[in-house]
Amino acid sequence: MSDLSQRRALVTGASAGIGEATARALAAAGARVTLAARRFERVQAIAAELDGAEALALDVTDSAAVTAALAGREFDLVVANAGLARGVEPLQEGDPAEWSEVIDTNVKGVLNTVRATLQPMLDAGRGDVILLGSVAGRQVYPGGAVYCASKHAVRAIYEGLRQDAGGRGVRFSTVDPGMVKTDFSRVRFRGDEQRAAAVYDGVDALTPEDVAESIVWIATRPQRVNVGELVLWASAQSSTTKLTRR
Ligand SMILES: NC(=O)c1ccc[n+]([C@@H]2O[C@H](COP(=O)([O-])OP(=O)(O)OC[C@H]3O[C@@H](n4cnc5c(N)ncnc54)[C@H](OP(=O)(O)O)[C@@H]3O)[C@@H](O)[C@H]2O)c1
Repeated sequence: MSDLSQRRALVTGASAGIGEATARALAAAGARVTLAARRFERVQAIAAELDGAEALALDVTDSAAVTAALAGREFDLVVANAGLARGVEPLQEGDPAEWSEVIDTNVKGVLNTVRATLQPMLDAGRGDVILLGSVAGRQVYPGGAVYCASKHAVRAIYEGLRQDAGGRGVRFSTVDPGMVKTDFSRVRFRGDEQRAAAVYDGVDALTPEDVAESIVWIATRPQRVNVGELVLWASAQSSTTKLTRR
């Protein structure tokens, strides 16, 4: 399985950042890709550039909508990537509406996506389910309790999938990046461009393409190989709290 020409892939959160780069990389490796996100016009424009790709309007937080949108579609490569963070306020100052947004997207969104796509892969005895975790699923940093909790949950979901559905030909992976330069910080800081740009000042952050390349690598390993957990730090990061800037 050194190329993906026989594969049918779903990428959630494919309208930007890691998801967009992953959709592009999977398509370049030959997969037919469904690009899903809420901003339909964006996924539509990206899909139009890719051979065999299609766009899907999808809000992963809406379990009924996810079930309806994915009913009757079969994939053998699912990248559950849609996710976001909101703010870096201390927990005691947090906004419950934002907590719900983060948990509904990062946790329930992954569950909804997997629930709507896994059974046909199990029936076929083949497929890859790749979750976008984070180093925030391994360490907790100040102001990150809720986002880190959501990514710790992604790691638990990955481990739960291995327990509940492992050994039946479907491979499960979690890709856990450190800092990647995307719209992530702009979303986290609610559109504050200056604050978002400062996150990456003097740092060679990972690129979305770095992460996408690792996802293609995971999906193209021989069937006997299941890359379980892949952690990709930016070289300047010693931990989630220690960063060396130029
Ligand atoms: N950037 C980093 O430093 C970093 C590090 C580790 C892990 N990650 C993880 O990587 C994933 C991708 O993040 P990114 O950095 O590429 O951020 P990004 O550029 O902001 O992209 C986030 C994507 O998620 C989609 N999305 C958000 N809410 C959604 C929803 N309810 N339904 C469907 N799609 C939704 C967005 O599309 P729409 O707005 O069009 O729906 C967008 O395509 C996330 O899970 C994030 O937690 C990021």
